[in-house]
Amino acid sequence: MKISTAILLASASALLKVGAEPSAWSTYLDSRSTMTVLAESPPPLEVSPLIVSGDPKNRIDIVFFSDGYLSSEKPKFLSDAMAFAKDITTNNTFHSVQPLMNFWAAFTPSKESGVGRGGQPLDTVFQLYRDGTELRGVWSNDYEKGRVACSSLGAQCDYPVLAGNDPLYGGSGGIPTIITASPLNGHQILRHELGHSILGVGEEYDGQPYNGYFGINAAKTNANPIPWAHWLTDPASEPRTQRSVMPYQNYAWALMNMTTPWQATFVSSGTFTRHLLRFSLSGLPAKTDMKLELDGVDLNWEPKPDVGMDRWFYDMYRDMPLEAGKHQVKFTLKNMELEGDAQMCSLEVLEFGNADEFIAKLGYVGAFPTYSMPENRTTYRPTNEDCLMRQVTTSTYCPVCLEGLWTTLLGRLSLIDNVTETCEPQTSSTILNATLIPVAQFRSGTKIPGESYTIQWLKNGKVVAGFTNQTVVKIPKADASGNYTLDVKFSSAEIRLDRNRVTEGQLVHTITGACNEK
Ligand SMILES: *[C@@H]1O[C@H](CO)[C@@H](O)[C@H](O)[C@H]1NC(C)=O
Ligand SMILES: *[C@@H]1O[C@H](CO)[C@@H](O)[C@H](O)[C@H]1NC(C)=O
Ligand SMILES: *[C@@H]1O[C@H](CO)[C@@H](O)[C@H](O)[C@H]1NC(C)=O
Ligand SMILES: *[C@@H]1O[C@H](CO)[C@@H](O)[C@H](O)[C@H]1NC(C)=O
Ligand SMILES: *[C@@H]1O[C@H](CO)[C@@H](O)[C@H](O)[C@H]1NC(C)=O
Ligand SMILES: *[C@@H]1O[C@H](CO)[C@@H](O)[C@H](O)[C@H]1NC(C)=O
Ligand SMILES: *[C@@H]1O[C@H](CO)[C@@H](O)[C@H](O)[C@H]1NC(C)=O
Repeated sequence: MKISTAILLASASALLKVGAEPSAWSTYLDSRSTMTVLAESPPPLEVSPLIVSGDPKNRIDIVFFSDGYLSSEKPKFLSDAMAFAKDITTNNTFHSVQPLMNFWAAFTPSKESGVGRGGQPLDTVFQLYRDGTELRGVWSNDYEKGRVACSSLGAQCDYPVLAGNDPLYGGSGGIPTIITASPLNGHQILRHELGHSILGVGEEYDGQPYNGYFGINAAKTNANPIPWAHWLTDPASEPRTQRSVMPYQNYAWALMNMTTPWQATFVSSGTFTRHLLRFSLSGLPAKTDMKLELDGVDLNWEPKPDVGMDRWFYDMYRDMPLEAGKHQVKFTLKNMELEGDAQMCSLEVLEFGNADEFIAKLGYVGAFPTYSMPENRTTYRPTNEDCLMRQVTTSTYCPVCLEGLWTTLLGRLSLIDNVTETCEPQTSSTILNATLIPVAQFRSGTKIPGESYTIQWLKNGKVVAGFTNQTVVKIPKADASGNYTLDVKFSSAEIRLDRNRVTEGQLVHTITGACNEK
């Protein structure tokens, strides 16, 4: 049933790299992207289930592989991996599609603990490392090993995730995906990277090269019809361009010092009514460590609670216009102890039109401009800030991506796990028992409103009315023989357009004679 990752990989010659990394994200041709040439043998793997919803043959399987965990750190790895799996499925991101997925942990001990720095890997299974000390990309010195480890698990591994034993921000996209065990950031990077890997979409945040915006959530123009026309909140007046501009963006990665504050100047046209400062910092745990000013006014920055030395993204939204002319943003380090650690990672300034010109409301689907800085070109995205492909601190996909997630996953699976035939001895009736992917009424736990399965059974092409919506049907001895077609159709409020009929499933089961006569 399941289309193997190997096939998808082989076709995906252009792998996406560094998805979580606003500045360094790029498309690169990976000469080693086919799984047919396996130069290495897999590491020894001890596989444990985390969240398992069915036979791996009919599920999309995500496997976390350990890197930089000593033998003695196996319990930490299992707990980190379980935290990742729970975090992204509990009530957001992959929550509704979780019954289509399995999550596993595959442990291999490393000889050293942690991930490398300064471009140097440690003696670990997949040799993960950072460039310099930046809390940014984490790379592997042996990508092939990650792919080999995954392929050695067969149907049990569709997407390998290398989990580095490091408490701070970092990761990269592609196959394998790389994340760290940062309690604040690990799961955010994971779901963002899985968005690249599973949905095959580019970025939604500003500042990428123009060709970094592609897939179901990106339109090169806002001409009608926009690809997500069926999701527009107000089809009568959309798509129109939501009015905003990005007067400044810089992935500075500047280590801060006490001598000179980090400063930027930008020019506003003075024609917008609101603005946003979006920036990321690391190594600044306390409010008293840093002062942020705009045109000399203290913006009263506060760190994310419990951020410690980790990196975090901050939004400072101000419901007031910027005057026409030059403006200055200034980040002043106030704690000498943090020199060498405190880092101004990135800064972006956005300006917005008034409430009619720019609909910032959560849930509003329209055509929002995304700015490609290097080329000064604009693409369009469906929502303002509803998607984690734009803002990693967001925990959901926008409706367009979520629909794409469903259709992508369903396109590789069958809604019908299996149909079994048994005999009821007392009556010699044949019992057919269908197991479907446990969504809609078959979900364990809380059901999701707007989901349903419509189930039909046909005997030799004719609907058996009494069997409609049943998964277990009893067929009397007298007329058992025949071809029984099980037809299922899944509906969900999260799927409005099913171009490839992936929400339908069919299985033919042939019964040859009454069951007591076999
Ligand atoms: C049918 O599928 C379900 C769910 O994957 C599984 O638990 C069960 O063992 C399967 N039955 C057979 C006979 O394969
Ligand atoms: C999701 O779960 C988290 C913690 O598990 C909880 O704080 C949050 O309120 C939940 N959100 C929703 C929408 O249920
Ligand atoms: C201090 O930081 C400023 C702003 O990033 C930079 O221009 C300057 O070179 C730094 N000074 C030293 C000594 O690193
Ligand atoms: C970017 O393009 C817009 C028009 O599309 C133009 O108004 C603006 O001046 C350009 N900015 C730069 C920095 O070239
Ligand atoms: C149908 O099969 C499922 C397993 O796939 C099993 O749990 C259930 O008890 C079966 N129902 C009947 C009536 O045999
Ligand atoms: C079968 O289930 C679907 C979905 O819940 C429902 O719309 C339909 O009316 C049901 N059909 C019968 C005959 O119960
Ligand atoms: C059942 O299906 C088989 C294989 O498709 C076909 O050969 C046979 O004629 C069918 N039987 C009936 C009664 O339709």
